[in-house]
Amino acid sequence: MIMLTTPVPFSWHTSILLPSLLFHIALAGIPRPEQFFDEQLVDHLFDDNRVRQQLYSQRFYTLDEHFLGPGHPIFLILGGEGAISPETGIFYPFIGDHLAAQWGAFVLEPEHRFYGKSQPLNSTAVKKVEENLRVKLFTPEQALHDALTLLDHVRGNQLGCSRDRASPEYCPIISVGGSYPGWLSAMARIMFPNVVDMAYAASAPMGFYSQQVDQFSYYNHITNVAETLIPGCKVATQSALHDVELAILTSDDLAATSIGMCEGTVPDYVFQDDDPNTRMVEELMMVVGYTFANDNMSDYPPSTATRFYKACETFTSQSLTSIEKVKQFLVERLSRKDDSDNSTRCWAMTLQMPSGPHATISSGDWSGVGTGDNGESWDFQTCTLLVEAIGFSKDSMFVPREWSLEWLTRHCQSRFGVTPRPYEIVQKWHFDDLVTYNVSHILFTNGLKDGWSVSGIKSNLSDSLVALNFPNGAHHSDLSHLGPNRNDTEDIEQGYKAISRILGQWLRDVKSAMPSISEVSVF
Ligand SMILES: *[C@@H]1O[C@H](CO)[C@@H](O)[C@H](O)[C@H]1NC(C)=O
Ligand SMILES: *[C@@H]1O[C@H](CO)[C@@H](O)[C@H](O)[C@H]1NC(C)=O
Ligand SMILES: *[C@@H]1O[C@H](CO)[C@@H](O)[C@H](O)[C@H]1NC(C)=O
Ligand SMILES: *[C@@H]1O[C@H](CO)[C@@H](O)[C@H](O)[C@H]1NC(C)=O
Ligand SMILES: *[C@@H]1O[C@H](CO)[C@@H](O)[C@H](O)[C@H]1NC(C)=O
Repeated sequence: MIMLTTPVPFSWHTSILLPSLLFHIALAGIPRPEQFFDEQLVDHLFDDNRVRQQLYSQRFYTLDEHFLGPGHPIFLILGGEGAISPETGIFYPFIGDHLAAQWGAFVLEPEHRFYGKSQPLNSTAVKKVEENLRVKLFTPEQALHDALTLLDHVRGNQLGCSRDRASPEYCPIISVGGSYPGWLSAMARIMFPNVVDMAYAASAPMGFYSQQVDQFSYYNHITNVAETLIPGCKVATQSALHDVELAILTSDDLAATSIGMCEGTVPDYVFQDDDPNTRMVEELMMVVGYTFANDNMSDYPPSTATRFYKACETFTSQSLTSIEKVKQFLVERLSRKDDSDNSTRCWAMTLQMPSGPHATISSGDWSGVGTGDNGESWDFQTCTLLVEAIGFSKDSMFVPREWSLEWLTRHCQSRFGVTPRPYEIVQKWHFDDLVTYNVSHILFTNGLKDGWSVSGIKSNLSDSLVALNFPNGAHHSDLSHLGPNRNDTEDIEQGYKAISRILGQWLRDVKSAMPSISEVSVF
């Protein structure tokens, strides 16, 4: 890790903050350095006494090698539910290496608050996280304010761009994101239309966050995709999982080693449950479900070498028993890579857990909450405003398990002492009804093989609310970590051209026809 700068410690005695912008400038010549914005407000919205006027250090990355100066666009790539690191750098080569190069654009990528090094409550006087304070600070709205505050500083103070749309020096702003950040990208345009000129939102779970998707859609879709991949996959998986369920329910030792688990890695809370066998089935089947789903999200480009295809191969195998199928499926995906001796390879259920007190595998996000600190933060987000109704139906290839708001509320209460508020954000931002609210200039893209596509905006709502759907695409395949390459399917290849054509047209509209808006201030 190359650390070019260290965050400057603040004196919390001084209450004067904004005129003295401390800013670390990237050293030239080293690509994609880690940087910190030390003037980020801990609280943009509430003026809470506990954190009043306190600042924290937000990490971000920039890419300036293509930037042709004031008058050229700025891509704002929104960070999401994970740390960004020098290895991830600028997430999307399609943006950094292609569109930015084509348009002479600057790229700015802030880390989302409460992930990675961007910890609003770490450096402040508030040492112990008070949950009701975290509820106020850890929201998509605060994260968008972070991004827009940083953007406003960078474009004016660093890049010399005008904030006046009529000026030749005006730098149009394009927000970008895939998955949760795809939704954030659309929200950036909806909330800050005077700053963000247009949004590119890939695989954005719009319908999940507006509570308009049936809870069984997600895993049903994954089941259907599996069945088209290898006919028979559905029934074979269903039957293997059912056998394993029975084996666990009737076992004295939860059948842990027979399904490839490493010794001693059943989490304590499973043993402490009133009914450990049932709890074990629930937690194991959650691991199976999201592991399948993760394979599906990355199943691009399609081939018989993808992990999704291989999963169906395992479950349709004629030579393995049900228990062996589940064991092989999990060990191949979840065991430690450095463990090369096949006979002793095993997977640890404890490593599937997010961090923090009262952590459980079945958490806020039943498509998989993630592990470690990122998993804990995402659990919190899906326990508060980003409620995702995702369950397993009896028509899916998984063991049926109904999701309910009651279950989620119990989980969130015991985990964080918080109550989920599924409707709050959609009632505030109306992203379930973009046309009525005159929203414009958002480009939605969807990979139709992705489970998340069940909640995407998939039709053109107006001339400037446009959807592009890719039959071969998985989870934001158009914003992959590889970028355009010769293995792309025809639809994705055409998609790159269409995306570039549509955003390019909107850019030309901004530069030539936007009315003068000299007071652009939302802060
Ligand atoms: C939190 O602060 C401590 C010291 O104050 C530092 O060592 C640690 O790296 C910080 N953690 C994050 C995630 O920024
Ligand atoms: C170990 O397992 C992998 C994956 O199943 C397989 O490709 C490989 O041939 C196995 N190696 C040995 C030594 O059995
Ligand atoms: C949308 O625009 C129309 C026409 O300008 C206007 O009458 C209407 O009030 C707007 N709707 C909202 C929700 O702002
Ligand atoms: C939406 O319109 C664009 C052209 O602007 C077109 O390429 C695309 O296929 C349309 N999307 C749908 C889902 O019809
Ligand atoms: C394209 O696919 C081939 C064969 O699967 C693979 O060897 C190659 O690495 C892939 N190229 C890229 C850029 O992914």
